[in-house]
Amino acid sequence: MIISVVNQKGGTGKTTVATNLAVAFASKKRDVLLVDADPQQSSLDWQRDRPEDLPHVSVIGLPYSNLSKEISRLKAKYDLILVDGGGRITANARAAVAVADFIVVPTLASKPDAMSTHSFFNEVVEEVAAMKGKVKGAVLFTMIKSGTLFNIAGQEQIKEFGFPVFDSLIYNRITYQEAISQGKSAAEFAPKSKAAQEIKSLFKELSSSL
Ligand SMILES: Nc1ncnc2c1ncn2[C@@H]1O[C@H](COP(=O)(O)OP(=O)(O)OP(=O)(O)O)[C@@H](O)[C@H]1O
Ligand SMILES: [Mg+2]
Repeated sequence: MIISVVNQKGGTGKTTVATNLAVAFASKKRDVLLVDADPQQSSLDWQRDRPEDLPHVSVIGLPYSNLSKEISRLKAKYDLILVDGGGRITANARAAVAVADFIVVPTLASKPDAMSTHSFFNEVVEEVAAMKGKVKGAVLFTMIKSGTLFNIAGQEQIKEFGFPVFDSLIYNRITYQEAISQGKSAAEFAPKSKAAQEIKSLFKELSSSL
């Protein structure tokens, strides 16, 4: 099973979601590989900071040009491969979508973000679907500001794309930033935090969608 966390728009929470999901799958004793397909290598940085006493998560960097070839080889070795899709370059995002059995598309809910996510669906997801058939996955709203009315217009716009949307939501929380800077998941950094709960809910919903 290959899950790509991908959106062409930068800074939507791809690495945060990918690292948290990798730990969630690893703690269920799944043999997980996190593939960092982003030249910025943020997932690799996260793993370098990861304390040794925590469950091991293998992370490798793979340039997008090798993704499809290398993944078919790695698929035999791991129960689950998560791809941190990076991908401001269209070819990079396409490669991450093309190798996936399921895509998680983190997006902010503002109007400009909804527009960029829309282009990602038009230019990347539709193109891949035209070649290999229906792309399975769901959009994930991230970095929602609590205390404000969740951006209804942006949210509605994204729902109109006709692609599934996770019920689970990821709020803007400092816990995510603290955790990633220490090579941890939110649950490892602060087990009782709201961020830990959000990831748990996402993990459950994702697992039942696969
Ligand atoms: N839910 C959240 N709450 C607060 N901060 C967040 C959250 N998700 C991500 N961040 C912060 O926002 C920034 C961008 O997040 P992240 O690196 O996960 O996004 P990305 O989509 O991987 O970015 P890039 O396109 O640069 O790879 C980081 O500083 C991260 O710590
Ligand atoms: Mg990233």
